[in-house]
Amino acid sequence: MRIDFVTLFPEMVLGAVGHSILARAQAAGLAEFWATNPRDFATDKHRTVDDSPYGGGPGMVMMAPVVHAALESLEIGAPGSRSCPVVLTDPAAPLFGQREAQRWAHEERLVFVCGHYEGIDERVRERLVTEAYSIGDYVLTGGELPALVMADAVVRLLPGVLGDPRSHEDDSHADGLLGFPLYTKPAEFLGSRVPEVLTSGDHAAVARWRRSRQLARTREERPDLFSRADLRPDDLGLL
Ligand SMILES: C[S@@+](CC[C@H](N)C(=O)[O-])C[C@H]1O[C@@H](n2cnc3c(N)ncnc32)[C@H](O)[C@@H]1O
Repeated sequence: MRIDFVTLFPEMVLGAVGHSILARAQAAGLAEFWATNPRDFATDKHRTVDDSPYGGGPGMVMMAPVVHAALESLEIGAPGSRSCPVVLTDPAAPLFGQREAQRWAHEERLVFVCGHYEGIDERVRERLVTEAYSIGDYVLTGGELPALVMADAVVRLLPGVLGDPRSHEDDSHADGLLGFPLYTKPAEFLGSRVPEVLTSGDHAAVARWRRSRQLARTREERPDLFSRADLRPDDLGLL
């Protein structure tokens, strides 16, 4: 998969993807990351990318021509027939979730558009953006961290990126429930023992215990998720 970031801060994004699993995915040829800077498409001598908002008000707005030119340089198809998702990072958009990550993991290419200042001229969204997502109900200074959050969530789902594909099958949100608690050696730590079932060698009992923990945790901590979860016939007996 190729992931493009349209950003005024390419070093920030390319620095972050140069570590850990994203870097390994890139080295293995499973993902590649590119950054395009709208400032490179500015035509004046100050390389201006922002201006004050029409109608007045504080702050600056990223100008349509430079962001538009940066996106067009990526050759992602004609307006209305984009060959891949072009995702605007936007705190006013619907919330990004695991479902979007799973959907995008089937794409060959993804483009993230990172806003700054007060945001991007709306005409970019109208012409070139195919989807917009927020990563949470708070406002960050720019779209780089949200784009990285979304890219990371997608890349770890690509086949071959995680050593054991079951890692993400067991993840929180993979099937609408929160994950189960994890333990590793030592079996006793500061007087607290690992739940006995986990050292019993009884795989069916371990699976039942984990499922029951997932159900209880989701019901207690995220009743909103629990009410939407696709429960199995025997789940109620585990609660
Ligand atoms: C300071 S914010 C602009 C906020 C905008 N004036 C508003 O009130 O909705 C600058 C940029 O950061 C990004 N951003 C900030 N918070 C975000 C969030 N929670 N999710 C996604 N993107 C976000 C967007 O790209 C946004 O254009």
